[in-house]
Amino acid sequence: MTIETPPPNSTVADILIEALPYIRKFSGMTVVVKYGGHAMVDEQLKIDFARDITLLKFIGLNPVVVHGGGPQINRVLDQMGIQPQFVRGMRLTDGPTMDVVEMVLGGKVNKGIVAQINQQGGRAVGLSGKDGGLIEARKMHIVHQADAASPPEIIDPGMVGEVTRVNPQIIHTLSEKGFIPIIAPVGAGREGETYNINADLVASHIAMALSAGRLMLLTDVDGVMDAKGQLISSIDAAAIRSMIADGSISGGMIPKIECALAAIESGVEKVPILNGTRRHAILLELFTDRGIGTEVTE
Ligand SMILES: Nc1ncnc2c1ncn2[C@@H]1O[C@H](COP(=O)(O)OP(=O)(O)OP(=O)(O)O)[C@@H](O)[C@H]1O
Ligand SMILES: [Mg+2]
Repeated sequence: MTIETPPPNSTVADILIEALPYIRKFSGMTVVVKYGGHAMVDEQLKIDFARDITLLKFIGLNPVVVHGGGPQINRVLDQMGIQPQFVRGMRLTDGPTMDVVEMVLGGKVNKGIVAQINQQGGRAVGLSGKDGGLIEARKMHIVHQADAASPPEIIDPGMVGEVTRVNPQIIHTLSEKGFIPIIAPVGAGREGETYNINADLVASHIAMALSAGRLMLLTDVDGVMDAKGQLISSIDAAAIRSMIADGSISGGMIPKIECALAAIESGVEKVPILNGTRRHAILLELFTDRGIGTEVTE
């Protein structure tokens, strides 16, 4: 067992004072936090995350959480003997997979986050994109090019959706009354059909609809890495395009970085990609001078 020595009182006061200009500047700001399923690693981290979000609300920001749940979905699919398949970071979603996605995201993962935040004294409310007509979606088609020599092919990913419209009234209503919305990335189509939507995509559309000041993308790596595995502290549109083309950005990082860029281009002030498996990543990014992770710029 390690026993941590508490910092001297003057250090504690210094830390609080260092945060004051930020707290003043951010008062009333909406912060959309994408909480990746890959960042939900252990109990202590989940408690830390819940504390961070609760603290933001109490000091006058408006946090809105959109969560993923990739590993949690895979565990249940595995128990059912279904092999998960991905193209360009998107989960191919047939009927049985869609049922699992909706049950796991809207049920276990969403209510788990809600309970953790409420445990910390926050007032969280769980929603899926279906509630209050929050997220309207339509079927997505994925354009996939295996390599530069082969022609692009159009892949039908099943019940994978893209966002056509966000109706943010339900979020405004909850936030104004002191609640913290926790959103599962499932949307409804025009005929009432259910779509599985990449959580980064949902988070960026919600950030844009709310004119959020920050979209924070919490994942399981320190940020975007270059081909040598070095952390890139700032990345722009041109670099993103070439890194996707040469394969040094792949898998789940493709939709994440594309969403980050879309949010920046439509006016979200700052979009950091952070390692959510590091304790209090959100607080350190917002309230200290030390920028962490990768910042996406135009
Ligand atoms: N250049 C890159 N830099 C960093 N990560 C990369 C890069 N290229 C691909 N990746 C992968 O992207 C992953 C992050 O996306 P992923 O979709 O797996 O997680 P998430 O979005 O945080 O969680 P979830 O999808 O469950 O919400 C990293 O774990 C890493 O394996
Ligand atoms: Mg992902």
